[in-house]
Parts: sequence; structure tokens; C-alpha cells
Amino acid sequence: MRIDVLTLFPEMFEGPLRASLLGRAIQDGKLDVAVTDIRDFATDKHRTVDDAPFGGGAGMVMKCEPLFAAVESLRGANSIDRIVLLSPKGRRLTQAALRELAQAPDAVLICGRYEGVDERVRDALCTDEISIGDYVLSGGELAALVIIEAVSRLISGVIGDWDSVTTDSFYDGILGPPQYTRPAVFRGMGVPAVLREGNHAAIRRFRRKEALRVTRARRPDLLSACSEEDLDLLAELEREGSESEREKEA
Ligand code: ADE
Repeated sequence: MRIDVLTLFPEMFEGPLRASLLGRAIQDGKLDVAVTDIRDFATDKHRTVDDAPFGGGAGMVMKCEPLFAAVESLRGANSIDRIVLLSPKGRRLTQAALRELAQAPDAVLICGRYEGVDERVRDALCTDEISIGDYVLSGGELAALVIIEAVSRLISGVIGDWDSVTTDSFYDGILGPPQYTRPAVFRGMGVPAVLREGNHAAIRRFRRKEALRVTRARRPDLLSACSEEDLDLLAELEREGSESEREKEA
């Protein structure tokens, strides 16, 4: 997959694109990321990329011309599958949206700045507008990095152990189960016995049940699309819950 990032702050990408699994994926050519300075597409001698809003008001708005020119400079702009504007006004990012994005052969991420971006960029240039959460950043750069990092995990061969992707929180819509590593007892705190007994079917069931327990407690909104097995496990959790309530009362 090829991702082009359009930004006014290319230096914000230097470290993150070199580090860790993402850095390796890029180095190995599994993911191609190019960062372009929008200012290179300004046409005046001051390299202006923003202007005051029509109608007045505070702040500056990113201008159409440099953004259109930057996108059009990318190979065959018409054939780019996804042109995504990062902004707090966008659709909230989900793992499902990332999976969809990871299917595209190429995508452009436009990092908005200042008070916003001229609406005609959104209307005529972008296929999507994405927010990474209900809070306001100074610009879309960190949001673009979140997307690049999360998409890279879904590209075949980036994560050596595919199991670790399939047990990620949100891979199949719910939070991940708790994990433990050595020592088996730390400061008197143990590890659930089933994880040390080597019965893979029992481990799989335990993990699914614990994932459901965590999701039920922290993000019950994610439990709407459960399988039959999940519903059985949830019923089991309910029964255990009411048993322990009874024990407390006794
Ligand atoms: N730019 C500013 N805030 C943002 C957010 N929450 N998500 C994406 N881009 C942004």
C-alpha cells in the first residue's frame, strides 16, 4: 500500500516513520509512505497556505489552491482510491474503517491545520473525513500517524505473528483479553491456572470469556453483534455475577 501525507509540518513524521514495526515495514517495502510539504505548492513568494475566513471571524483557513495542486501532483490524482481529510469534524475512526482503508492500494492523508480547511477541499477533493476522537488537536498530523500505524498492522507480513493481530482489542469488535507473562507469581499475584495448563481449547474459551468480561465492564456498547458462543459466555458471566452477589450477601 502507498500512503501520501500532505502536511505543513513534515518534520513531525520523521521519528515515528522510522521507529519500531512501522519503521521496519517501510524499510522492507511492505508499506510506502511519502510525506509532502503543502507549502511547496503555494504560488506566491511568501508561500502562503492560509487566509482569513470569508464573513470574518477568528483564525485562518487553509486555502484551496495549494491543497488541490498538491493532490494533483501525485501520480494520476483521479486514480487515488481514498483522499482522507483529518479533522475533528470527521467520522470517528474505528477498526472497521481502518480495515477498509488497508484494502486500498493507495491513500492520501491531508492534515488540516489552523481553524479549518476551505470547505471546497472537503467537497470536491476528499473521499473521506476522519476524526480520531472527540477532542481537538492543533492539526491532523498526529491523527495521520495514528492511521498509518494502525493500517500498517493490517498489512500482510508487517506483524510477524498474525495471532497477535487477531487477538488485538477491536480486531473482532470487542476489547482484548488480559495477558500475563513470567513469573507465574509476582508479589503474591498469580496467573489464571488455565493459561499454564496447555489445553488450547480451554485457553481459547477462557480468553474469549475474559475479553467479553472486560468489554461488558468497560465498553458495553461494543457488545451488540455477538455470536451464539459469545451469548452463551455472557450468560455464564451473568450467572457467575449473580452467584458472587449472593455469596457476598450470605
Ligand atoms: N485535527 C484536529 N483534531 C483532530 C481530531 N480529533 N482528529 C483528526 N484530526 C484532527
